[in-house]
Amino acid sequence: MTPIVIHGSKGRMGQALLVAAARHPELEIAGAVDLGDRLDAVIARAAAVVDFSAHDATPGVAALCARHGKALVIGTTGHTADESGALRRCQSAIPIVWAANYSTGVNTLFWLTRKAAEILGPDFDLEIVEMHHRLKKDAPSGTALALAEILAHVRSLQRDDVLRHGRSGLVGERTAHEIGMHALRGGDVVGDHTVIFATPGERLELAHKASSRDTFARGALRAVLWAVRQPPGLYTMQDVLGLK
Ligand SMILES: NC(=O)c1ccc[n+]([C@@H]2O[C@H](COP(=O)([O-])OP(=O)(O)OC[C@H]3O[C@@H](n4cnc5c(N)ncnc54)[C@H](OP(=O)(O)O)[C@@H]3O)[C@@H](O)[C@H]2O)c1
Repeated sequence: MTPIVIHGSKGRMGQALLVAAARHPELEIAGAVDLGDRLDAVIARAAAVVDFSAHDATPGVAALCARHGKALVIGTTGHTADESGALRRCQSAIPIVWAANYSTGVNTLFWLTRKAAEILGPDFDLEIVEMHHRLKKDAPSGTALALAEILAHVRSLQRDDVLRHGRSGLVGERTAHEIGMHALRGGDVVGDHTVIFATPGERLELAHKASSRDTFARGALRAVLWAVRQPPGLYTMQDVLGLK
């Protein structure tokens, strides 16, 4: 049995993780930690920590994991550049899986998006549309940003130079290089992402819709069992699924 600590355990994802981990034949819950609890009091009992708390909490979690030699699965999104830098610095000490989205379907969407961008070439305009529940704090979603990163990489562009967030007013004609990004919020939508490739005469749309958080929880637990067998380093769900 692999003992794990779930950080952010009272949240929407934390609750889904607790249920999925309790049912998992190879995992045991060594601790459930939320705001006000002390991760350092339970971390010694675990082989790995799964963090789905908040972006600003994750660097502290990573530093503690590095100090104790525990694998880390990062589920939080919306990190600042400083927070991302702090997380990357821990990769020499411990195995870290860091994914904007742990669903197998979305990771297949990542793969298909790269393939489609490579096949269709530069004549297609690229747009991303995402929708999430009304309580989501960051926008666009980490998954939408990861999709934009894949598209920009295929075209040898810097993602943040070419992202065009929403459009309003007299914005002029679309430029060839821009990647449109549109974040919708409402109701209880767990997570929808569509990548649109449009050129005169045809349009290809790749879409994924998550209807339950269980899919993220199952993927994150699969990542934990994979991570505890890896040497120190920074990995993604594409590594876990062998999609690289
Ligand atoms: N990678 C993926 O596949 C994936 C999928 C879904 C969500 N996410 C991400 O996972 C994160 C959590 O999402 P969620 O919908 O579960 O959010 P949530 O319902 O707000 O849950 C977060 C939980 O963490 C707690 N928390 C906040 N700061 C903390 C800290 N410093 N130490 C310990 N616990 C802390 C929160 O407490 P309070 O409520 O008291 O603040 C809350 O109980 C978000 O960043 C979200 O974008 C990732």
